[in-house]
Amino acid sequence: MTAPSAKAAPIVERFADLEALSRAAAAAVVQQGEEAIAARGRFDLAISGGSTPRRLLQLLAAEPRALPWQHVHLWWCDERTVPPDHADSNFGMAQHALAPLRLEASHLHRMAGEAEDPASAAADYQRELCAALGEPPVLDLALLGLGPDGHTASLFPHSPGLRATDWVIANPVTSPLTGGATTRITLTAPALHAARAAIVLVAGADKAAALTAVLHGPADVEQYPAQLLAAGPRRVRWLIDEAAASQLETGDLHDPRG
Ligand code: 6PG
Repeated sequence: MTAPSAKAAPIVERFADLEALSRAAAAAVVQQGEEAIAARGRFDLAISGGSTPRRLLQLLAAEPRALPWQHVHLWWCDERTVPPDHADSNFGMAQHALAPLRLEASHLHRMAGEAEDPASAAADYQRELCAALGEPPVLDLALLGLGPDGHTASLFPHSPGLRATDWVIANPVTSPLTGGATTRITLTAPALHAARAAIVLVAGADKAAALTAVLHGPADVEQYPAQLLAAGPRRVRWLIDEAAASQLETGDLHDPRG
């Protein structure tokens, strides 16, 4: 598979630790939300799962007046094929972290990880996304993470989803990170490219090698799927902590601390 050519250079911002990174990410979400609501009356935000975004979500929940949440629609970048009350559910993690906001259920657009047929659930989600946002479905912000293997959302190395042309798919993956073979429901690269903005949160020394390979390694999207983000039309913001930045050249980093 030929790597898509990078269209826009990434914006890389380094922070001391996960807490500082999360506070900066919360400020970025609020800013994007204010702009979206001012321009279009709503803010369509797609979030990822895993552990990194949890603190960001807690910070957003701790300041309910930071955004008019009645105008915010939450989507998911991906979901595991588990029920929403399962410990591994991305929806469940966010629902718990954001509970203080008491968000309207109709504004929480959950991927049906519990579905017997993930492909059907992915198609249903694509219909819901396009009914709300049109085609291509233009999210205001996609909040992403990076796996230690270079995956983002549930676009895992060597998975068929890397070549998908739909907006939402069921992606069969086999990875030690997923406990072996499983299926994930995920937004695809075209859907992530269609978003008005994308922010990738990367924290921890276990991400250092993948981050360097994604940002500065040779083009190899099969091995490092997060490289697909650079092929979108818009600049992607990477908010990283010192531990994740430990293998980057210092010249690559914009330090917001001045
Ligand atoms: C998921 C996420 C996934 C995540 C990375 C990083 O379903 O696991 O959407 O893409 O962003 O795996 O996960 P951590 O934040 O836990 O390191």
